Amino acid sequence: MSVIVAPSILAADYLHLADQIKLVEDAGAKYLHIDIMDGVFVPSISYGSGWVKQIKDSPSKLTLDVHLMVEHPEKIIPEFIDAGADIIGVHVESTPHIHRALQMIKKAGIHPEVVLNPGTPIYAIEPVLSMVDQVLVMTVNPGFGGQKFLPETVSKISYLNSYKKEHGLNFDIEIDGGVNDKTIINAYKSGANVAVAGSYVYDKVDPAAKVKRLLEVTDFGQN
Ligand code: DX5
Ligand code: ZN
Repeated sequence: MSVIVAPSILAADYLHLADQIKLVEDAGAKYLHIDIMDGVFVPSISYGSGWVKQIKDSPSKLTLDVHLMVEHPEKIIPEFIDAGADIIGVHVESTPHIHRALQMIKKAGIHPEVVLNPGTPIYAIEPVLSMVDQVLVMTVNPGFGGQKFLPETVSKISYLNSYKKEHGLNFDIEIDGGVNDKTIINAYKSGANVAVAGSYVYDKVDPAAKVKRLLEVTDFGQN
């Protein structure tokens, strides 16, 4: 079984988005990663729930994996639920009410995900691990595409993988930032089973080949 590939449209050609999504879907991607940036929690501004709704209403069947990089996430979670997100990720650093935010998502029947930055210790998310379906371990500091993978984040993946086995939990472990056909290997071996890839996939050359490559290089058993 290979990794689940989640191309990030942050690096896509927005003027041809439908085609760009179809390319990765036909190549075997299962999720589509949608980065929501508010210019406050992170320096850039990306796009809002209208994009999620349009993609949901499009022919694509990809699981919509929404990554909220915003302050006061509780205020905008409802609009992303209404827009049709399948997974909603909330940064533990973005709110004093992470438990409440994840509860809102869970109650709506959507998959809750907790996200942690490279500088945040794992213990900060331990109290909510039993209520999430996915944990996103940031492998770069959030805010921009095209950054270098931080190898020191891999030990968090191994820790989470052991934690989940010890406690009989079954959340997915996602990585995001600097993922390519080389950096994915150790992360996948350590237990990450969902991989976001932005600039590696949407490099303007051949997004389909890049998705297939990520699937090929992870086509081995995971612990
Ligand atoms: C970064 C975003 C990522 C970004 C990844 O803050 O969360 O999802 O699109 O881009 P790459 O794969 O280029 O590092
Ligand atoms: Zn992201």
